[in-house]
Amino acid sequence: MSDLTEAQRPSGRVLPHELPAELRDAGLVNWIREPLDDAVDRRRRIIFPPAAAVMGTSANGYQGALLAETRHPDTIFMMGDNPALPTMPERPALKDFFELRFSKIARSHLLQSARVATANGLGEKVVMACLLHDIAIAGLLSANHGYWGAQMVAPYVDEEIAWAIEKHEALRYFPDESVGYTYPDAYIDYFGPDYRPPEYIRQEHEAARRHRWYMTSRLVTINDIYSFDRDAVVDFDDFEDVVGRNFRQPKEGLGFDGSPVAHMWRTMIWPNNFL
Ligand SMILES: [Fe+2]
Ligand SMILES: [Fe+2]
Repeated sequence: MSDLTEAQRPSGRVLPHELPAELRDAGLVNWIREPLDDAVDRRRRIIFPPAAAVMGTSANGYQGALLAETRHPDTIFMMGDNPALPTMPERPALKDFFELRFSKIARSHLLQSARVATANGLGEKVVMACLLHDIAIAGLLSANHGYWGAQMVAPYVDEEIAWAIEKHEALRYFPDESVGYTYPDAYIDYFGPDYRPPEYIRQEHEAARRHRWYMTSRLVTINDIYSFDRDAVVDFDDFEDVVGRNFRQPKEGLGFDGSPVAHMWRTMIWPNNFL
């Protein structure tokens, strides 16, 4: 933002109630946390929405107004712990992200998927891949979630598990009748009956089918489709042993081990940091 010229910089005198109606009505206030009794210093904290979340929406036009807000002495950008989120332990483990960061529906989907895989008598690599397969949707980004998710966990799991997570994204779109996998009904609702995956996804699917680990990823997709029961109760501790054997938790905590993906875990610890 520092490359804005003086003339382009937003006015420092815009107060929330003076904002243009279209910005106010579109929900600019959603990004501003007024001080509550538990606030340490009584200052307002602004969450600067990530580009990936607002590009292509009216919220993308908030940037100037939000920058202007911080010119008030009682207003700063959110950095560090957001009081609206549970505090994470100093050395967070995988379980802490499931319990303190992921939404109920995302956590439940991952746990149910792993439970169905266990009930189907599948091996621990498949169970672990199911437990992690949508971790990027749960905590980081939905677009390209298989790839983000695979990268996030790659330093801590067997290569085959990370591969299966990456490829499940493409395999989900393509039936494999030899193992009873059909195109998900949910995708007809999500994307419409006329949706066709783009060429790069088609190519990924073709290449994955020829790979020696194809069935590991295919099994992730098979155990994916039965895992949206909203009433199901599954406990992360049910998988404590599987996680213990298949996920190398760094002793410094996820986010602080200096691995090439530590920043992804830190982004989930402090998702509202401006920088
Ligand atoms: Fe997925
Ligand atoms: Fe899934």
